[in-house]
Amino acid sequence: MAQIIDGKVISTQIKDELKEKVAALKEHGIVPCLAVIQVGQDPASSVYVNNKKKACTYIGIDSRAYELPESVSQTELMELIETLNRDESVNGILVQLPLPKHIDENAVIQVISPAKDVDGFHPETVGNMCIGTDGFLPCTPAGVIQLLKRSGIEIAGKECVVVGRSNIVGKPMAMLLLRENGTVTIAHSKTKNLKEVTKRADILVAAVGKPKFITGEYVKEGAVVIDVGIHRNENNKLCGDVDFDDVVQKVSAITPVPGGVGPMTIAMLMDNCVKNAVSPKSEC
Ligand code: GUN
Repeated sequence: MAQIIDGKVISTQIKDELKEKVAALKEHGIVPCLAVIQVGQDPASSVYVNNKKKACTYIGIDSRAYELPESVSQTELMELIETLNRDESVNGILVQLPLPKHIDENAVIQVISPAKDVDGFHPETVGNMCIGTDGFLPCTPAGVIQLLKRSGIEIAGKECVVVGRSNIVGKPMAMLLLRENGTVTIAHSKTKNLKEVTKRADILVAAVGKPKFITGEYVKEGAVVIDVGIHRNENNKLCGDVDFDDVVQKVSAITPVPGGVGPMTIAMLMDNCVKNAVSPKSEC
């Protein structure tokens, strides 16, 4: 029987640990503060942003919401970020993605001070993660590492295959698995003989962006499968990049969707924010 890795339970453990830390910080007059900027009213983004605010409330982090109209200019958005960069009461700044088409996402990410980059998207933050310097870790990949560690799954020496090469998940995921001494392959849409590659994996991370793409044929007997995908199927039910029912009989451990990686992203965002209140990063 496969171990079902419960992201709800593990993320709650992490949030409870953070709640205790925040209570102790408050005794020293420190209240962590996260600024969350949303542009427009994309329904999926609104759900994510609300969940982030709820997690802040649960842990005791002060959250400040900035809801900007879809029509906001890039300059106005950047000016708000620069104001928040200078605001000493703010520990973390998050701009919910995607942004409307008239705004250059990369340019916006680069305006966020690396000292407050709790999403871990700024090129300087990414560079620090790659060379192994202390710093903010990107939330979803860091959440996957926590799921593995807290489920007693060893990474060192394991064949790890990440399917997907996005800047938010695939690439940083591969880097964090490498930091844990995994032997890492990144596969993607142009990979030849994908099934042969994924079948080498002791740990397979699916970040493909296609519902139920990873079936049993892609998975080695006894592998650990982590599903980063989230989609709605034809019946409006949530599903991942992995065909759970087809894969579950073959694997030693697997994350479900929902209730796997999803809740971990927010827990790790909260972790970045609290860490930065405990020992704030200084700007270079
Ligand atoms: N949109 C989807 N996932 C994320 C995330 O982790 N951070 C931000 N800022 N936007 C997102």
